[in-house]
Amino acid sequence: MLNHQVASNAMSTSRLSEFALLPPIIAAIERGEFGSTAEDKRRATTGATNFFAPFPGGNGRSCATCHNPNDGYSLSPHTVEARWRRLQEAPRTDPRADDPLFRNIDADDGKDDYTLLRTRALIKVRVPLPPRVRLTDAPNATHVTVSRAVPALSGLQFTAPYQQDRTIATLEEQARAALKAHMQSSVEPTPEFLESIAYFERQLFANAGARRVAAALVEGLAAPEVDPPLTALEKQGKEKFELFCGKCHGGAAQVKNLENRIFPPFDGTTNPVSINVGVSNPLPSGMTSEIHGIGFDLPTQRFTIDLPAGGSVQLLSSDPGTVLTDVHALETVGGNQVFNRFDIPQLRGINDTAPYFHDHRAQSLEDVVRHYQRFFAFINEVRGFPLPKIPDEDVDPMVAYMRKVF
Ligand code: HEC
Ligand code: HEC
Repeated sequence: MLNHQVASNAMSTSRLSEFALLPPIIAAIERGEFGSTAEDKRRATTGATNFFAPFPGGNGRSCATCHNPNDGYSLSPHTVEARWRRLQEAPRTDPRADDPLFRNIDADDGKDDYTLLRTRALIKVRVPLPPRVRLTDAPNATHVTVSRAVPALSGLQFTAPYQQDRTIATLEEQARAALKAHMQSSVEPTPEFLESIAYFERQLFANAGARRVAAALVEGLAAPEVDPPLTALEKQGKEKFELFCGKCHGGAAQVKNLENRIFPPFDGTTNPVSINVGVSNPLPSGMTSEIHGIGFDLPTQRFTIDLPAGGSVQLLSSDPGTVLTDVHALETVGGNQVFNRFDIPQLRGINDTAPYFHDHRAQSLEDVVRHYQRFFAFINEVRGFPLPKIPDEDVDPMVAYMRKVF
């Protein structure tokens, strides 16, 4: 039986397994990967321990319950399923057979139904509704619940604000919010505790290249070349990536929208920080995509949204993104009202963090590029905006480049 009531399961099997993931991290700290002075090492060790330890007075979870180092500090369906199996196979008489990942505060789709967690590694996020947005079918609702993937943690000092809807300014505030939302603790964390976790998180990088780029940026230097030697195919992929993708995943941290060809005007005066690339369902009419349809689409809800200029619109969406949290997201972009916008994620380490997008609907990098192929064609043909189309022959080179470099 699942036990949702366990408040303090000091000996739970999963606590032991998360702690088993800590020693290699401590070894990396001692090698100097998290800073070279004795003080750097002390701070990183404290932060790592706090990140991996179940928070006192909570539901048995630690940050690492969801941000698993083996998944680039995200959470994969593979990891969830392995934990689920282990829990099912534990002897029914074992009072310690509990896994705090499977808590019905945010992990289930309904009583004891963990389907979306097990198949897509999605967690429920409860977002307060601002006065300008209502659930059409429950106009008095104060919150809406959406299903989101656990983001990988890498290069965080360059990617603020945090969350896929950009609502949280600092890592300390983010950690405090996570304790409340996911860990059900009544204990107020101390500023030192939050700072230690933030310090540890700021030192997390998907790979050595990302760490070197960050070190240069912190010193105010130009980002060094960190690509390994590329084959002819990968070189071609790099050029195409820069042409088609690098304008949004731009700058050294890959999160800057440098050029806007999706909404007029196309003169660089309106480069929105959050963008709709057609992931939330349903799709706009005229757009098709292989990552939409049965098996991929999530349940939708109807939203009524009051527009700043007066009047309101209705939107059917599985997750409307920043429109829930950012007043500026309601301002039109070049005369277009845009919903389902999300933060631009950095891409380092993505080889280890499939599936992709805010609701994990793309299984592979090929799926991602094919989705963009359809999205670019839609913007070009249906909207009539000057976004170039991605030819079929450019798909494989881009995927090969991302596999090699990110
Ligand atoms: C139950 C699973 C779960 C637990 C436990 C959890 N998180 Fe998260 N975390 C998430 C999800 C889901 C998101 C994305 C939320 C969103 O975008 O609305 C997230 C987002 C984040 C982000 C933002 C990353 C970015 O790039 O914007 C950070 C940082 C983070 N978590 C750190 C922590 C820390 C620190 C802890 C422990 C104090 C923690 N998390 C505990 C599931 C979890
Ligand atoms: C118009 C801006 C824009 C362009 C162009 C763009 N992206 Fe993105 N990208 C985004 C946004 C915004 C998201 C988050 C979307 C979501 O999850 O709903 C994203 C998400 C992703 C993800 C998922 C990352 C993760 O951790 O889940 C990958 C991979 C990706 N993009 C690769 C690419 C590639 C490859 C191209 C070029 C073919 C590209 N992007 C072009 C804005 C863009």
